Amino acid sequence: MTTLPNIQQTVPVDLGSRSYRIEIGDGILTDAGPIIRNWQSFAGPEPLRALIVTDQVLQSSHLPALQDSLQTSEFEVTTHAVASGEPSKCWTEVQKICDTLVEMAADRKTIVIALGGGVIGDLAGFAAAIYARGLRLVQIPTTLLSMVDSSVGGKTGINHPQGKNLIGAFHQPAGVLIDQAVLATLPEREYLAGLAEVVKYGVILDDQFFDRLEAAPEKLLQREPRFLAQVIARSCTLKAVVVQQDEKETSGLRAILNYGHTYGHAFEALAGYGQLLHGEAVSIGIICASRLAEQLGRISANETERQRNLLQQLHLPVVVPEDLRTRKDEILHRMLLDKKTENRELRFVLPSRIGHTEIVTGVSADQALRVLESV
Ligand SMILES: NC(=O)c1ccc[n+]([C@@H]2O[C@H](COP(=O)([O-])OP(=O)(O)OC[C@H]3O[C@@H](n4cnc5c(N)ncnc54)[C@H](O)[C@@H]3O)[C@@H](O)[C@H]2O)c1
Ligand SMILES: [Zn+2]
Repeated sequence: MTTLPNIQQTVPVDLGSRSYRIEIGDGILTDAGPIIRNWQSFAGPEPLRALIVTDQVLQSSHLPALQDSLQTSEFEVTTHAVASGEPSKCWTEVQKICDTLVEMAADRKTIVIALGGGVIGDLAGFAAAIYARGLRLVQIPTTLLSMVDSSVGGKTGINHPQGKNLIGAFHQPAGVLIDQAVLATLPEREYLAGLAEVVKYGVILDDQFFDRLEAAPEKLLQREPRFLAQVIARSCTLKAVVVQQDEKETSGLRAILNYGHTYGHAFEALAGYGQLLHGEAVSIGIICASRLAEQLGRISANETERQRNLLQQLHLPVVVPEDLRTRKDEILHRMLLDKKTENRELRFVLPSRIGHTEIVTGVSADQALRVLESV
């Protein structure tokens, strides 16, 4: 396998027969055809059929470049656009994608390519997982959150009216292509929200990465291309390390990726649709979890302060909104509904220092809610 010139970083994800590469670069969408053809599973001269599932907002901006490049590399391309937003993660949209695949007379050799944020990745990934018992999937994430989180690791799925991501399947992609140039059109607020997950990786797994972020928040804010490529690559590597050890969330290790999410999910749900972006809620949740760790004598106040400072410098919220602070019963109820609770016992991912976290059980409701007063 040769390295193509525009690829700045390659992160291997090592999962035995399901291994794949994450290729990262600036402007590589126009080379998507050759890059994908260079992956072992798509090599060879024979034409391949591909269904690109994309977000409606990308139809005129980024889709044409991908389409052209694929066609030049002997892909027969069909496109399927989906309305933007979380409500598209539903059965109706899965059905529509399957209808398109049937119209194309898709077979097991057909590829599904997800071009979009986490919504498109999860939806198209799920359709790929179930159609004909599994089609090969290529993830081309277009939001920072999907680049550093949702496109890697093989979780796909849709929502049920009673719960987010309740219906899903593990379906690893055959490859991930990350072109940071597509972030140029991403609204600032969405970009910043993605940075919360980046900070999360530093806290849970890598103190030196955290130090590097802390030393250069302005490079993140300015989206400095070389620094950003490194940050995306490091985040993907850390996610890959976790996924490689606990692909299907059986050992419990994968749960550390949910640092800040027990509180965060509760805030996100209670704030009302669209009020707090996922990453914004996670940012506040990170501070709550770290304060809880402080209360339990697991981490120093200084280390919470470092996290708070960094998130704040990245223009992320670090204070529990006033209207949520008083809704303690509802917050507790939501936290108990969280996937990580077992037998109605609260479980938290808590740092013991920056770069290391542990799963902590036996936290009382009082302790968990008390931190809301100080965040
Ligand atoms: N599978 C996983 O492991 C995993 C992990 C984390 C999150 N998720 C899921 O990911 C979803 C959230 O992902 P997201 O934050 O990417 O949301 P998203 O896909 O809704 O994208 C956010 C917004 O940005 C727009 N957009 C996307 N790319 C753009 C671009 N390049 N330029 C301009 N606008 C663009 C979209 O239209 C949307 O309005 C949730 O459904 C969540 O459950 C999945
Ligand atoms: Zn998250």
